Amino acid sequence: MNSEKTLHVGSPNIGELEAFWERAQFIFQEKWLTNRGKLVQQFERELAKFLGVKHCISMCNGTVALEIAIRALSLEGEVILPSFTFIATAHALQWQEITPVFCDISPDTFCIDPCKIESLINPKTSAIVGVHVFSRPCDVDALQRIADRHGLKLLFDAAHAFGCSYGAKTIGGFGNCEVFSFHATKFFNSFEGGAVTTNDDQLAEKIRLMQNFGFAGYDNVVHIGTNGKMTEICAAMGLTNLENIDSFLRVNKRNYDLYREKLSGLKGLELMCFDEAEKCNWQYIVVEVEETFPLTRDKLMEKLHRENVVARRYFWPGCHRMQPYRSKMQSLGQRLSITESLSSRLLVLPTGTAVGPDDISRVCRLIAECN
Ligand SMILES: Cc1ncc(COP(=O)(O)O)c(C=O)c1O
Repeated sequence: MNSEKTLHVGSPNIGELEAFWERAQFIFQEKWLTNRGKLVQQFERELAKFLGVKHCISMCNGTVALEIAIRALSLEGEVILPSFTFIATAHALQWQEITPVFCDISPDTFCIDPCKIESLINPKTSAIVGVHVFSRPCDVDALQRIADRHGLKLLFDAAHAFGCSYGAKTIGGFGNCEVFSFHATKFFNSFEGGAVTTNDDQLAEKIRLMQNFGFAGYDNVVHIGTNGKMTEICAAMGLTNLENIDSFLRVNKRNYDLYREKLSGLKGLELMCFDEAEKCNWQYIVVEVEETFPLTRDKLMEKLHRENVVARRYFWPGCHRMQPYRSKMQSLGQRLSITESLSSRLLVLPTGTAVGPDDISRVCRLIAECN
């Protein structure tokens, strides 16, 4: 039995607990647990400021945030998105009887490839959903040009990209709106949580109504809606973690640099790079296991798991190979060659504030042993 500490991908980044307990006490003094309390209001104000966007509507999680954004934008028919994403991006569409049309990704960004979108557009297409994968932004300008040319809506799933930028502008204000997840595994978490951010006043108003059953005041429902509300205790965690974001960033960057140093020179293993001119949260340590590496990606993962290093295959096998899409869209793999190839070769390694320099040395030693 291996007695070494277990390292996970996505261990939570947790800020100063004193500040969190103070906020928790405040919640119990106020006796206001949910329904747009003072902490949720403060959380939304501070997030909007941090992201440089006019409106931030907090949510109970990123999936419901996606569902509400999709509905508020009146999407219908078909929507183009990458298959190389977490399943929630596709499910949020299919949940509302909208057909996800999977597009291949660019080998440079791992995000949706703008050159492959236009051939998928037809009269039923209502939107494009870009996903900023592993902290790296989509080619936002190219996507906006295509959306404008064809009169399509443009939505971004920014679950991986909190605190990142595109063209030196913080992600959050692009397209019609952007959607964040503050799940415990994300760079920035509120236990569970999410948000929709936008600069569009009317859209923001609609999303806010939809997030709270359509209530426009006591006893006055003016719109169809659901329950997408964030609780006060989640906002307390979010506010606390927001205060500590710089220290999370410092640890992640240090970890990334250590991985870079210790993995450099290994044959057949490529660490994913970031554009140093952009802001990045450094939350994803992604290696590409090439054919020249002595073990396959899956064999390497099995070895790491045996040694209590829970590396993960993101996004394996791609949404198009999961249900219900796999049955509906057989042979789609041929169109998604980059997705298929990368999803079989990428491995995500542990980082975050729970992972220290010695842990990274251990992980890298285990990988180097195979070389
Ligand atoms: C790309 C992506 N989209 C959507 C989600 C869904 O967010 P949540 O888990 O907060 O519902 C996640 C993560 O969980 C994700 O990684």
